[in-house]
Amino acid sequence: MKNDDVHSFFLVVVLVLAAALSPAVATAAQWQLLKSSIGVSAMHMQLLPNDRVVVFDRTDFGPSNLSLPDGRCRDDPRDWTLSHDCTAHAAEYDVATNAVRALTLETDPWCSSATLDPDGRLVQTGGANDGERAVRYFNPCFDCDWKEEPAGLAAPRWYATNHVLPDGTAIVVGGRSQPSFEFVPKNRITSAVVLPLLRDTNDPGELNNLYPFVYLNVDGNLFIFANNRSILFDYNTNTVFREYPPTPDGDPRNYPCAGSSVLLPLPPSGDNVQVLICGGAPRGAFVKASTQKLFVGALKTCLRMGINDPSPTWSIETMPSARVMGDMVLLPDGDEVLIVNGAAAGSSGWELGRDPVLAPVGYRPGAPAGVRFEVKTPTTVPRMYHSSAVLLRDGRVLVGGSNPHAFYNFTGVDYPTDLSLEAYSPEYLAPEKAKLRPRVVAAPKDLVYGERFTVRFDVAAVNEKQVRVTMLSPSFATHSFSMNQRLLILEAEETAPAVEEDEWVYEVAVVAPRSAFIAPPGYYMLFIVNGGIPSEGIWVHIQPQ
Ligand SMILES: *[C@@H]1O[C@H](CO)[C@@H](O)[C@H](O)[C@H]1NC(C)=O
Ligand SMILES: *[C@@H]1O[C@H](CO)[C@@H](O)[C@H](O)[C@H]1NC(C)=O
Ligand SMILES: *[C@@H]1O[C@H](CO)[C@@H](O)[C@H](O)[C@H]1NC(C)=O
Repeated sequence: MKNDDVHSFFLVVVLVLAAALSPAVATAAQWQLLKSSIGVSAMHMQLLPNDRVVVFDRTDFGPSNLSLPDGRCRDDPRDWTLSHDCTAHAAEYDVATNAVRALTLETDPWCSSATLDPDGRLVQTGGANDGERAVRYFNPCFDCDWKEEPAGLAAPRWYATNHVLPDGTAIVVGGRSQPSFEFVPKNRITSAVVLPLLRDTNDPGELNNLYPFVYLNVDGNLFIFANNRSILFDYNTNTVFREYPPTPDGDPRNYPCAGSSVLLPLPPSGDNVQVLICGGAPRGAFVKASTQKLFVGALKTCLRMGINDPSPTWSIETMPSARVMGDMVLLPDGDEVLIVNGAAAGSSGWELGRDPVLAPVGYRPGAPAGVRFEVKTPTTVPRMYHSSAVLLRDGRVLVGGSNPHAFYNFTGVDYPTDLSLEAYSPEYLAPEKAKLRPRVVAAPKDLVYGERFTVRFDVAAVNEKQVRVTMLSPSFATHSFSMNQRLLILEAEETAPAVEEDEWVYEVAVVAPRSAFIAPPGYYMLFIVNGGIPSEGIWVHIQPQ
């Protein structure tokens, strides 16, 4: 071989090796900057059934970058920083027009929790300071603003998790120094009830049981994960039915060693309910970062368990990269979970994260073990502590936030406060998939449990055998967990051309979820998925039984 040949031979070997060692990067996924600033950092986000996203932060860090209209100001002598404040700490983002409207919050919703009620109204609870016992309501109408009950909760709740129950009310679980739960509205019991799991998993100095992962199981009980333990819990009788094995490594997965978690897509039968938890930080990461400025590497593993298995065990899978403070989003195709945002070192908390992870990772729960992960196109914006992500009805993922500081600091700090909103478009939105993308042309708006209904859609290239209908609840995202995130795969008959219709129009007969244990009442986005490509969702509603 000549010298040049030797060089190119080695170059090829190196390239082949590099390709073999680094996971494939899917380039069809796209990032788009929607707004360079909405004026408020997206610590909390909720999509409402009018396609507007309520975004809010805290009220006690000083002025935001969004003024309140009409000379409105908030006078609060208890505010830690600014007792006369004419800026907004909540905003409404309109997906259709890309416009932002300032909202008026009176009490502090810092690190709070929420659900939608069956009417699509945001019911938002707790926070800090003057907001720790507040219940706040926000209606999905076009010029609404917050309504607040400053003493609506039985106990102060900061870093709690809410979940919608089958009767449409909400349970509020935990919070800092609050190992208990309660209901909103208070129609069952009016006081807080002690939950021993939260008392027993409260590591002194380190917590690790905040923002517990809570899911409604298909038997009506709640799966509750805190720190490194989890239980199946009957909130009606205050009974623990089942204690699951602890995490195999013993490491915590909740705030501040924050991993993220989802309930994997539920099949129509409700069989095989599985919980997935990804990333987090090793025990001690929070204390090491806060007292010694030692930023330990995040966890690289995901844990997955069938919670109704006869002998449930966590199976362990290794992600392409370590991640703490990620956000997990169920994509409407029902095939993939997106893991986005976060860092590779440190923990949640002010100034405690390092090494932003810019590339999301997809996890395909139905693929064979070993080939489930795929590294996606990276963003350029670090989304550290206090960032969030929610799915939009058009299939994009709205990503915002990142403010690892006690104030809004734009200069002179690592990871400046970020006020932007970005959209992540998964591969299914790529232009070359347009022929496969269905469009719903007729469907009922109101569904009844167990009732058969028909959805009519058009699409240029149908694959009758591969049409799937999914339903997704809009979730409340904050602190690496999306409360009430639930994806249902509906029982569907084979797709057929619609009679007496144009070419390309098809019909699929579907059965609505059979019970409120499978699908609590409220609003859902319904998607037709053709050969893996979802339509734009449509809003459907299920009344309480
Ligand atoms: C927010 O306002 C501050 C103070 O006026 C300004 O320095 C900063 O650039 C603004 N940031 C954004 C992202 O708008
Ligand atoms: C789970 O966490 C606790 C601390 O809360 C710790 O003492 C225990 O050893 C951990 N469990 C396992 C199996 O490592
Ligand atoms: C962050 O902002 C606050 C409030 O404006 C200010 O007091 C503080 O000095 C800033 N921190 C840094 C590191 O610039």
